[in-house]
Amino acid sequence: MTLKAECKPITAITEIISEDQLEAIYRPISSQLSQVEEEVARACSEMEPTGSSSYLLQAGGKRIRPALVLLSSLYGCGPVPEVIRLAAAVEILHLATLVHDDLIDCSDNRRGNPTINRTWGGNAAILTGDYLYALFLEHTAGFNRSILASLAGSLKNMVQAELLQLQLLYNCDLSEKDYVVRTYLKAGSFLSCCCRLGAELAEAPEKSLRALERYGCFMGISFQIKDDLLDFQGDEKHLGKPVAQDLKQGVLTLPVIYTLKNSHKRHEIRTLIENKEFSSTTLQFIIRELEYCGALSYTSRMAERYAHLAGRALATLPDIKARQSLEALLNFILTREL
Ligand code: IPE
Ligand code: IPE
Ligand code: MG
Ligand code: MG
Repeated sequence: MTLKAECKPITAITEIISEDQLEAIYRPISSQLSQVEEEVARACSEMEPTGSSSYLLQAGGKRIRPALVLLSSLYGCGPVPEVIRLAAAVEILHLATLVHDDLIDCSDNRRGNPTINRTWGGNAAILTGDYLYALFLEHTAGFNRSILASLAGSLKNMVQAELLQLQLLYNCDLSEKDYVVRTYLKAGSFLSCCCRLGAELAEAPEKSLRALERYGCFMGISFQIKDDLLDFQGDEKHLGKPVAQDLKQGVLTLPVIYTLKNSHKRHEIRTLIENKEFSSTTLQFIIRELEYCGALSYTSRMAERYAHLAGRALATLPDIKARQSLEALLNFILTREL
């Protein structure tokens, strides 16, 4: 029996959509980002027999995490080989979390293509994720203890966020504060770590490290809030992953939390969620109410607020090309459709 899946040729979604925008943002680091791409591709290509990690890599992705490492390094001596290695490592770690996340979420599509769990099955997805974690370890093996501790801390936070989410499925008492904490653990912590460590390996001044760390933290929170909004407002074709998944699976995000607190129909909606009544009519009713009671615009404003805080951290840094890119990245995050 062969483990190779019969699947259609993959499409790299970022090549189709918004490529120009990201390409312009990544211009100061474009050649190093290509090196990172090559390194991750080389590492993933060693995986046999399914080739499932290469499959996910080739499908596209925005490469935000390695870009943050590389751009932050420009506040020090720039993308030296260690920085490139770290940038490759964080994309590999991100790939590992996506593979396991898709299995947990029972998602069918990622980066515009069938997920690994759908193509090769759940066990292969667990093993592909494990393999990617091993590749991540390989790429970080030579780093000092404090760098390894920061990376481990971010990974622990991401896993903890997923566990919290699991524990609180369908729980309508989730507060906005709980949500922001979860969002920090899920995305803020890791993106902050990418910024800080990229600058640290390039021996940037302590003041810059701190500002970049703050930038990454708020930018990550904004990124995740927007991701949660796109689950209601996005278009599967652009996003490359299914929409309206979170609510169906009981993952309550900011638009729903706001609605459960402010809508006139909050009691009815609470009952529907608690009873897991998600027929397409029910879903339509809830999503209409998210729009009607202002939850979607409130969520959008919250994403803007955190992006604004990230921008304030950035403003304390010297105005080099990297700063313009990091600023443009905030705008990209808020307006992104993928
Ligand atoms: C998806 O991250 C997972 C979240 C933290 C929301 P990205 O949206 O950065 O995924 P890719 O790498 O572009 O596919
Ligand atoms: C996943 O968050 C975050 C991690 C991979 C740790 P989501 O579940 O919101 O990501 P998507 O929407 O599937 O990309
Ligand atoms: Mg998911
Ligand atoms: Mg999501």
